[in-house]
Amino acid sequence: MPRPLVLILDFGSQYTQLIARRVRELGVYSEIIPGTAKLAEIKARKPDALILSGSPASGYRAAAPLPDAGIYALGKPMLGICYGFQVTQQLMGGEVSKAKHAEYGVATFVQDGKSPLFKGVPKRFKAWMSHGDEVKALGPGWLRVAHTTNCAFAAARHRTLPFHLIQFHPEVVHSPWGKQVLSNFLFGIAGLKDGWTMQHFVRDAIREIRAQVGDGHVLCGLSGGVDSTVAATLLHRAIGDRLVCVLVDHGLMRLNEADEVRRELGEKRGLNLRVVDARKRFLSELAGVSDPERKRKIIGKEFITVFDREARKIGSVEFLAQGTLYPDVIESASAGHGAQVIKSHHNVGGLPARMKLKLVEPLKWLFKDEVRELGRALGLPEHLVDRHPFPGPGLAVRVLGAITEPDLDALRQADAIFLEELRRAKWYGRTWQAFAVLLPVRTVGVKGDERSYEKVLALRAVDSVDGMTADWTRLPHSLLARAASRIANEVRGVNRVVFDITSKPPSTIEWE
Ligand code: XMP
Repeated sequence: MPRPLVLILDFGSQYTQLIARRVRELGVYSEIIPGTAKLAEIKARKPDALILSGSPASGYRAAAPLPDAGIYALGKPMLGICYGFQVTQQLMGGEVSKAKHAEYGVATFVQDGKSPLFKGVPKRFKAWMSHGDEVKALGPGWLRVAHTTNCAFAAARHRTLPFHLIQFHPEVVHSPWGKQVLSNFLFGIAGLKDGWTMQHFVRDAIREIRAQVGDGHVLCGLSGGVDSTVAATLLHRAIGDRLVCVLVDHGLMRLNEADEVRRELGEKRGLNLRVVDARKRFLSELAGVSDPERKRKIIGKEFITVFDREARKIGSVEFLAQGTLYPDVIESASAGHGAQVIKSHHNVGGLPARMKLKLVEPLKWLFKDEVRELGRALGLPEHLVDRHPFPGPGLAVRVLGAITEPDLDALRQADAIFLEELRRAKWYGRTWQAFAVLLPVRTVGVKGDERSYEKVLALRAVDSVDGMTADWTRLPHSLLARAASRIANEVRGVNRVVFDITSKPPSTIEWE
């Protein structure tokens, strides 16, 4: 039996990704498509239910994204959230305009009538609102289900069709009854079956990869990070030796990283893996370069050259696999809309245009923690799937200023000590990212009876959900003390350790 699919029509709300996640957490597969997708595209995906997301737009303004009105004639179970509520009313004979009282934050809902959407939810309940427009009158055939003090129509349902509309956001944590509401929609109203797990994802993804690739060949750049490791393992399951992986060892990786990937993927799992030792080449191109953006550009350019050359040796390849995740898709898309470039991230895009390869992106619907779960479902060891994010330019942006081999070695050692201590104290999995940064600053110290004049090393640990904003992790003092003492004693060239206590913004996570 095909798995049930919930299609989420995205009108640009910052919470759309969260809706998809919550639905998957409830054991039903969901995908997001643009809210303005044509009816034919929606029908082709054969959804079992539709969810219309929120939006920063106003449905009654000229530039607003509108759904194809044909979706309402499909008669599929439908949940409209916030803007999804308003735009549905607008297209189905209701009246929408600017709210007298915009509501941002927790509001108290009072139910006016019975609705299967609110089964098990108290008559008065709290939920999160974020809207400047509101429904002033419902279209014909619609019934009011709830109101708030400021909002006469805060939830509605259709008299005969399985259409439900809510002004609040059930997907955010500030709506304590949100999970119940989503569950009522999926299982009560839409009658879907749960039971979707990562194993189902693996099975579906393998089928889709085979359908896309046919008997073609796929090239996959491996970085040692979670995303490319998981993507390559999945592709290997789907197409075996027709996947060729290339790991460009640019000498800027973490301690033993290239070896571990070679051992786990190449030797243990038999992936067709080529490791290109380009350490000398990268170091010589980077010699004496201290500007962070110049460093990034050089690494990006060299990477493409080395990867391209290796690809040519392989012969005919038609596809390029990338471990792009959903947040990458969103971030690149929003960057394309004039957002300022803070740091040029070179690992999304760049390669395919030049190499004329078609993209295979099997992880593009998933979030980072879902990718980790997928990695576990594929049997990858924990120390590979729980790895923290690592920037494409690697340690080059963590040895501040010009890079030398001894500095890279010192940083690699210090980083490994810090991570080892974090793991030992069971803090590694509780931080989004933790690492060491070598500063181009020397200070005076004393080792034994001798004066030393050596570099400063900074430790950084941050909590974050997506890397876009972050706060520094309140690590226990005892852990920091142990890491600092070991680093200053064991790593040659370092005699002082400091801990970074700035958030993002105003800082960024990486120092360069
Ligand atoms: P920043 O330093 O911008 O980093 O706060 C946010 C997240 O992105 C990672 N990062 C990069 N990743 N190429 C990448 O693939 C890059 O050039 C790059 N720069 C930063 C960073 O490690 C953090 O997780």
